Amino acid sequence: MKRLRLGILGSGKGSNCRAVLESIRTGTLPADACVVISDVLDAPILEIAREFSVPNAYLPPGQFRTRLEPAVEGELVQILRDAEVELVVLAGFMRVLKAPMLEAFSRRIINIHPSLLPKFPGLEAWNQALEAKEPVTGCTVHYVDDKIDHGDIIAQREVPILPNDTAESLHARIQNAEHELYPAVIAQLCRES
Ligand code: GRF
Repeated sequence: MKRLRLGILGSGKGSNCRAVLESIRTGTLPADACVVISDVLDAPILEIAREFSVPNAYLPPGQFRTRLEPAVEGELVQILRDAEVELVVLAGFMRVLKAPMLEAFSRRIINIHPSLLPKFPGLEAWNQALEAKEPVTGCTVHYVDDKIDHGDIIAQREVPILPNDTAESLHARIQNAEHELYPAVIAQLCRES
């Protein structure tokens, strides 16, 4: 078993990042968080990194909306390499990664998505599940490839959809499941390495 060196990437509120950092702090996740990087200057995820004393950086993403400018993505690779990151953990990172990252960290980038993939990739997956009148949805941790919310599935957790569920109540229960699943999967990857 190896303590994996993690680099966490996110664009938003960072609740999954917090769950990972708390699991490291309590000792249930034998990993080291080396750096947290965001493409959003005032993203709460950066504040969470500071709260846990994890080195953190804002990476100005460049001119595109859904991906990083290639030179910026090259810079990201360098930051992660300088921090000797072994596993890249996407935690609400809203940009599609391309060749620089996918080649530098082949099969070493994971993501969490709020549905039972391959069902409902894309935005607001809990709403998609509600609208499709599914009896159950959940969350998925998967390796990242060049397609959105796609790649080999590592683990899933089911969340039943209740008769009175609203988008908010369902989303909250899926996030609770994510906060258990993501640290557990990273711990499993540590045990396997
Ligand atoms: C999570 O629901 C995750 O499934 C999706 O983005 C969301 C990030 O939430 N990829 P948070 O920033 O970790 O709170």
